[in-house]
Amino acid sequence: MAQQQTINLPLWTVVGEGAIGLLSAAYLTNAGYPVQLHRRTEGPFQFDFQSGTNSQPIVLSAPRKLPYTHVLLPVKAYAVHEAVQQLVSVLSDDAQLVLSHNGMGTIEQVQSLLKPKQGLWFLTTSHGAYKPEPTTVVHSGRGQSVLGPLNQAAMTQQSAVERAMHAALGPVTVVADIWPALWLKLAVNSVINPLTSLHQCKNGELSGLKHAAAIRVLIEEFVMLAKASGQKFSIEAVAQRVALVIEQTSDNYSSMQQDFAKNRQTELNYITGFLLRQAKQHGLDLPAHQAIYQLLLQKSPR
Ligand code: PAF
Repeated sequence: MAQQQTINLPLWTVVGEGAIGLLSAAYLTNAGYPVQLHRRTEGPFQFDFQSGTNSQPIVLSAPRKLPYTHVLLPVKAYAVHEAVQQLVSVLSDDAQLVLSHNGMGTIEQVQSLLKPKQGLWFLTTSHGAYKPEPTTVVHSGRGQSVLGPLNQAAMTQQSAVERAMHAALGPVTVVADIWPALWLKLAVNSVINPLTSLHQCKNGELSGLKHAAAIRVLIEEFVMLAKASGQKFSIEAVAQRVALVIEQTSDNYSSMQQDFAKNRQTELNYITGFLLRQAKQHGLDLPAHQAIYQLLLQKSPR
């Protein structure tokens, strides 16, 4: 019975070897999915998957099977366009591609590269994972995900993609319109990530009076821009969401803080930079986001 199920499940290709990628690969493997990694180096890949007190070796075989029919692309926003440019020649004509990252501005880049029958999805997740070493992934915080189709071709394989994403990063809420979820995640990332990067602090250190005024003005500007872009949020609803994420992730360093601390490329241009580009299109000024953007650019020009 279990064998029968494995045979019917599609092969998923996970792009990159980031923490969310390896976490998804581990959960997909455990759910019986055949999984392969698309990475720079060919060959089998073994890593250690740790969750709670459990530790499990996961072995992904090689060589890679082409064409790719089901692809999860959990790479940083700045790497998405180039990754998809490299993938297009090995995607099947009806491939399903799931993007998952912080920030916005990549969807338009990817849409123009796909063929009419290739489905595009976005999955936003609150699962926490990190890699203490290159071949170990730790599931550090249980979360949930929101998944939505971005084009018509995605609808043709809706249940297959939903089932797999539920196995990889569930529980998953599937929505017809993913944009409100993406904007809300952007709100959270546009407050927590730049502020923790500027102050080199953990997320939890943003709670309390010291940063309250800065958080408030960043949220007010965000809500004004979101409204101009067709996404209506109340300041209170966004403030509550930001406060909740700060509380739930209080002991974590944000992804951007870690990138700055390690002098790596950051997602600033796809978070604050995206907001500023949108604001320009609408003829709006976002002085607080602009100021934090300039300060962070001085810290790292990338
Ligand atoms: O980018 C991150 O680190 C995360 O999206 C979040 C929610 C801000 C928690 O640290």
